[in-house]
Amino acid sequence: MRIEAYERIFMILAGLMLVLGIVGIGVGALVAGVHVPSPAGRIDPRTLSTTPPFDQPGLRDLGGGKYEAVVIARAWQFQPNEIQVPVGATVTFTLASPDVIHGFVLTGTNANVMVIPGQISQVTARFDRPGEYLWVCHEYCGFGHHQMYGKVVVR
Ligand code: CUA
Repeated sequence: MRIEAYERIFMILAGLMLVLGIVGIGVGALVAGVHVPSPAGRIDPRTLSTTPPFDQPGLRDLGGGKYEAVVIARAWQFQPNEIQVPVGATVTFTLASPDVIHGFVLTGTNANVMVIPGQISQVTARFDRPGEYLWVCHEYCGFGHHQMYGKVVVR
């Protein structure tokens, strides 16, 4: 079978791009530590508000500049919807939903997870600059979706 020269070049380039793409994914996953957020645990959404740590949502100081923010995402608010931390803080957000699928995206960081009923979602962000970092629900969750937001105040 005869293959035209231009077609051969095109096939080689297409094959190279495929290989580059696969190598890129491999390097991202194995070297750069890029991964999709996986569930940090399972929880019964019906008993969420009485199951630790979600029975006491809010910020916990873990020491050494590390914090955990336990946040419930429910239709249509975050609880709590504001936390305050000092500059340099590393905050792990532990999130769960008692009702429908919500989202959590924190502006100015790469923190971005879905909050799925039955699952505990976790994402960590470091705050090196003072300011206010808005977070919003980014999964359409009904009538009050646009009212679901909160913020991290860094001083
Ligand atoms: Cu919760 Cu959109």
